[in-house]
Amino acid sequence: MSGGNGKVRVGGPWWRTAVTYQVYPRSLRDSTGSGIGDLNGITESLEYIRSLGVDAIWLSPFYPSPQVDAGYDVSDYTDVDPLFGTLEDFDRLVTTADKMGLRVIIDLVPNHSSDQHPLFQAALAAPAGSPERSLYHFVSEDEPPNNWRSVFGGPSWTRVDQNDLTESQWYYHLFAPEQPDFNWENPAVLEFFKGVLRFWLDRGVAGFRIDVSDALIKDTEWPDTPDHSPVIPKDESSPVHRIYRHLRAVLDEYPGDRMAVLETGAPDSTVALFLRPDEMHQAFNLRFLKTPWNARALAKSIIDSLAAAKQVGTTVTWVSENHDNTRSVSRYGTDEAAVGEYVPEVTGSGRTKPDAGQRLRGERRARAMALLLLSLPGSAYIYQGQELGLPQVDDLPDEVLTDPVFFRSKGTQRGRDGCRIPLPWRGEEPPYGFSPEPAATWLPQPDDWASLTVETQNSEAASMLNWYRLLLNLREKEPALGSGILAWISNPEDPSQKTEGNVLHFSLTSPHGRTLEVLVNFGTKNFPIPAGKVLAASFPLPEGDGKSVGVPEDGAILVATENG
Ligand code: BGC
Repeated sequence: MSGGNGKVRVGGPWWRTAVTYQVYPRSLRDSTGSGIGDLNGITESLEYIRSLGVDAIWLSPFYPSPQVDAGYDVSDYTDVDPLFGTLEDFDRLVTTADKMGLRVIIDLVPNHSSDQHPLFQAALAAPAGSPERSLYHFVSEDEPPNNWRSVFGGPSWTRVDQNDLTESQWYYHLFAPEQPDFNWENPAVLEFFKGVLRFWLDRGVAGFRIDVSDALIKDTEWPDTPDHSPVIPKDESSPVHRIYRHLRAVLDEYPGDRMAVLETGAPDSTVALFLRPDEMHQAFNLRFLKTPWNARALAKSIIDSLAAAKQVGTTVTWVSENHDNTRSVSRYGTDEAAVGEYVPEVTGSGRTKPDAGQRLRGERRARAMALLLLSLPGSAYIYQGQELGLPQVDDLPDEVLTDPVFFRSKGTQRGRDGCRIPLPWRGEEPPYGFSPEPAATWLPQPDDWASLTVETQNSEAASMLNWYRLLLNLREKEPALGSGILAWISNPEDPSQKTEGNVLHFSLTSPHGRTLEVLVNFGTKNFPIPAGKVLAASFPLPEGDGKSVGVPEDGAILVATENG
């Protein structure tokens, strides 16, 4: 089994407090010169990832796929797309990671397959009402069965044969027409996916990130809705809980605390139902990711998430970036500093670059967020490039865009390509060591990223990369980070607090009784630094009189208290 770096763990299975690095395979490193990242490129990068101080990696999809949605349209669940390598390459990746003490989590895409998957092709070839069609949602109607819109824009229904209007069946797709939804009410679908889980568990994966996990069950009365959104039952009585229990049982057949982390945008109280002890282990806290840079909103988000997780005995999974959302240095730099909907908003025309002030503000806040993310009780995910402070690339020309969001919205939304740019490793110009040179990368890298490369940031003490290293290093040594008990000293949700609503300040006490304090200042006035020894400051802290200056706006500090 992959992973297990021998760190001293407190409080149960590894995943409860692990830090996981999300790898987007097309954009980490290209070992062949194709301009697209691949599995061998990931294996070559494991030393770098391990040196950051994380516990695990999560790989976004690398399975055979027509790549309509960057691999989230799977045409074979138990193989590797030749774009990315071979199964042998995958095995080598897992073995190498294991030797370094890194666990490997992979993406499971159970809500939908590619329309090129043999099961969907067989369904198309079979008649209406056949067992083959019952694996997906086919409905006979003259018109689309209801008014639901797809998440990517446009209708959620496609007629089976556009050229034969006597063929009156439609199939349902929550996303693109090339991503037909499985019918999870059919037990054969569950059996199929149990086999997929076992295939990868046998190859040593430590767990799965479950894509669109909460939408497996739809209301198949197919009612129209006023806002054209789908009806997706998630409550106590939804069959989705039975499905999770079955998947959990498969994970439990294996030794070594194999786990599943859910992608879900559901509210905390609903998520808690998914995370009951016999269901799934964790769920990304996407609400936290989408919370504006605002002390009150963040406090509420933290308080609610901790309470929901506690209710079912799990931990919160903190996340501030992923491959679907605007990069945080760009997001936090905007005047609103807020994030949009599930499919990321795309700033205006997509042609505006932030000014220097917005860039600096975004970076300051992203640094402060890193301290929050890596200190709060629970586990955390870091999306590749987040540790470099990569910005959103908002000025990609139309002709290079690949995201179905761009095409399905007829260009009104630019989509998510801007947070998926190939990683800059070294050198002065593209491809910055991403590909053996020269190569045209699948998305172009900006010309001004030389200062953001791993090489450059390695050599600058105050770089974002070294800030992440410092925090991850502290987290390895200080169980109060990630495994501590949180007690608020001041937060704007507490009416008795005296900080004009502009500070988050809490203590974290380790199971051994050592106490640290975290303070983040959202106000414009500097705030006094708590008493004790400063372990990390997200802002330049002058030697000597530093403590009298205080924590500036958008600054965060970590202090070991006198008794700690
Ligand atoms: C993934 C997206 C993908 C969608 C459809 C998501 O939640 O994270 O990248 O487009 O599922 O599979």
